[in-house]
Amino acid sequence: MFYPAPEGGSNRKRNMDVKSRNYLLMNRQALEKDIKTSYIMDRMISDEVLTLQEEERVKQQNTQKERAAMLINIILTKDNNSYRSFYNALLHEGYRDLAALLQDGIPAVSSGNRKSSMDGMTSYVKTVLCEGGVPQRPVVFVTRPKLVDAIKKKLYCLGSDPGWVTVYGMAGCGKTVLTAEALRDHQLLEDYFPGGVHWISVGKQDKAGLLIKLQNLCSRLEHDLTLSQRSPLNIEEAKDRLRLLMLRKYPRSLLVLDDIWDSWVLKAFDNQCQVLITSRDRSVTDAVAGNKFEVHVESGLAHEKGLEILSLFVNMKISELPEQANSLVRECKGSPLVISLIGALLRDFPSRWEYYLRQLQNKQFKRIRKSSSYDYEALDEAMSISVEQLNDNYKDYYRDLSILPKDVKVPTKVLCILWDMETEEVEDILQEFVNKSLLFCDRNGKSFHYYLHDLQLDFLTEKNRNQLQELHRNIVNQYKKYYKLKMPVPSQEDCMYWYNFLAYHMAGANMQQELRDLMFSLDWIKAKTELVGPAHLIHEYVEYSSILDQKDSTVRENFQEFLSLNGHLLGRQPFPDIIQLGLCQPETSEVYQQAKLHAQRETGTFYLEWMNKKSLKNLYRLVVRPHRDAVYHACFSKDRQRIASCGADKTLQKYICGENP
Ligand SMILES: Nc1ncnc2c1ncn2[C@@H]1O[C@H](COP(=O)(O)OP(=O)(O)OP(=O)(O)O)[C@@H](O)[C@H]1O
Ligand SMILES: [Mg+2]
Repeated sequence: MFYPAPEGGSNRKRNMDVKSRNYLLMNRQALEKDIKTSYIMDRMISDEVLTLQEEERVKQQNTQKERAAMLINIILTKDNNSYRSFYNALLHEGYRDLAALLQDGIPAVSSGNRKSSMDGMTSYVKTVLCEGGVPQRPVVFVTRPKLVDAIKKKLYCLGSDPGWVTVYGMAGCGKTVLTAEALRDHQLLEDYFPGGVHWISVGKQDKAGLLIKLQNLCSRLEHDLTLSQRSPLNIEEAKDRLRLLMLRKYPRSLLVLDDIWDSWVLKAFDNQCQVLITSRDRSVTDAVAGNKFEVHVESGLAHEKGLEILSLFVNMKISELPEQANSLVRECKGSPLVISLIGALLRDFPSRWEYYLRQLQNKQFKRIRKSSSYDYEALDEAMSISVEQLNDNYKDYYRDLSILPKDVKVPTKVLCILWDMETEEVEDILQEFVNKSLLFCDRNGKSFHYYLHDLQLDFLTEKNRNQLQELHRNIVNQYKKYYKLKMPVPSQEDCMYWYNFLAYHMAGANMQQELRDLMFSLDWIKAKTELVGPAHLIHEYVEYSSILDQKDSTVRENFQEFLSLNGHLLGRQPFPDIIQLGLCQPETSEVYQQAKLHAQRETGTFYLEWMNKKSLKNLYRLVVRPHRDAVYHACFSKDRQRIASCGADKTLQKYICGENP
C-alpha cells in the first residue's frame, strides 16, 4: 500500500502524532540494521520532507547503521508527512517487511475539510484513497482523460451489483496509474463506493504469497476492531474472513486488485463484491462468475503527451526540447513507462539525450533502469516477466515471432504456414498472446491480423539474437514447402506478406542462393511489380546488395537498372509484358538473357527482338508500349528504321527505333 505523503503547507510545522513516533521508536533497531539511506532520502527529498542539508548530515556518518540512525533521528523531529514519505520510500525501495512494521503507525489524514485542493481532489477523496492505500500520482503525471473516463464509466456500469472491471493492456502502458486516477473522484466515491476503496498490489504470487496478501488485507480491514482476531491460517479461511468483513463492515466498497497474473488468485476474492482489476491478461476473469466489464488501455501516449512528460522531467518547455525528444517518443511508440524511465534519467543527466536515444535504438534495455515507484526496475524486466509466464510450448511460438517485420500486421495464414497448422489452432495460440498483452490483433470482418508493439519486438529480437538467422531460415523453408514452385496470388490473404517480406526473411537467414534466385527472377519481378510497383524491389536490391553481390555486382546492377528505367511502365495498368521489356535490354544484361530464355520457352506469344541495339546511342529510351492484347503481326519498314505491329486490341502501333511509339 502506498500513502499520500505531503499534506500541504499548513501541516508542515505540526509535530508527528505520538502514535507514529512510537512506531518509529519501537522499530528503530530493525530499521537501523537494514536500511541503506541514499534511495530513501532521494524519495523523501522529492516529497519535500527532507532538506539537502539534512541529507548531507546523514551522508557524513561513517557506517550504514550510523547513517540509518541519523536519518531516523531527523525524521523523529518532523511531522506526519515525513512519516508517510518514509513509509512510502521503504515500501518502494525494497523494504516491504520494514514498511509493514510501520504500517499501523501511519497517521490518519485529517478529514472534514471538503475544500478542493490544488488538483481538484477534495479532502474526502484524499482520506478515502489514503485509507484504502491507493497509490499517489507519479511525480510527473500527464492526464489521459478518455481512458480515465472509460474506467469510471465501467465502474458506474457495475451499479450496486457485484462484478468485475478489468483494466488491461501491455507492460507499462499506465494501467495502475490510470486506475488510481479514476478513483480520484468525489462523486464516484461518495455515490458508488461509500464503503471506501481497498487497494491491494497483488503481483505474481504463489499460494503462500497470496495468503500473506490476504492476511494483510484482513488485518487492515479489521484495523479498528476492538477484538483483534488472529490471522487466517489458509486461503479458504482468509476468503471467508474477507467475505464477512466486506459484507458487514465495508458494504458498498470497491476492492482494487492491482497487477493480477493468474485467474486462480481471483477466486480468493470472489465474494460477491465489486472488484476492479488491472492486468496484462485480458482473460484473467474467465474463471470467475458475475458481471464483467473491461477497459483496454492502449499501449502508447499521444506524441504531445509523451513530450509533455519529458518536458516536465527536465523542466523545459516542449518547444525548447531538443530534437532527440521527438525521436525518443517515436522510438518507444509513446510508452509511458519508457518515456518516464528515460525522463527520470535525463533529469539527473540532462546532457544525455543522444545517449539514451541510442540505448533505446540499440535495444540496450538493461541500461534504461531507474529506481521508481514502478514495480520493475528495468524495461527488460518489465517485459520479460510476461514471457516467462507462458508455458514452454507457447514460449517457443512466441520466440518464432521475433523475426516479424516492424510495424507490419501479419495475417493468420502466414503463421499457419510457419507452424504448419490449421487456422483455428493458430488463432488459439495467438489469442493466448493477445490476452496477455504480448501481441495485438486487428479484426477486419473474418480476417485477423496480428502485430507486435515495437518494444516487444525489440525485446524479442534482443533476447533471441543468436537464433534470428535460424528463425528466418525456418519461415523461408516453410514458405517453400507450402508454395513449392507456385507463387502466391492476390486472392490469398497472405499473398502481400510474401511479396513484401520473403526477401527480408531470406536475407535475415543469409540464404544467398535463394535470395538471388528470387530477386533475379523475372516471374517474381513481374508478379511483385504488378502488385506493388517497382520502388520496393529497387529498395531491396540496394538493401540486400551485400548478399546479392556474391562475386560481383553486375547482375544486381542489371536488374536494378532495368527496374529504374522501366519504372514508369511497371506496376501500372495495362501491365507491360515484362519479357518484351527485358528483350529491349542490352544483350550483355542478365535481364535480357533471362527474357530471351523465357521468350524461347513460351509458345504462342509474339515477341520483338531488337536487331540494331548496338548502333543506338540512347538505348535507355528503347521501350515498348504494349498492346493490350495478343499481337498478331509486325513488320519492318523498308529502310529498317520503323516497325509496325497490330493485334487483338485493334490498334496499330508504329515504332521508330530509338524513340517511343
Ligand atoms: N499518465 C501518466 N503520466 C506520467 N507517467 C505515467 C503515466 N502513466 C504511466 N506513467 C509512467 O509509466 C510507468 C508505468 O505505469 P503503470 O505502472 O501504470 O503501468 P502498468 O500498465 O500498470 O504496468 P504493469 O503491466 O507492469 O503493471 C509509471 O511508473 C509512470 O512512471
Ligand atoms: Mg501495474
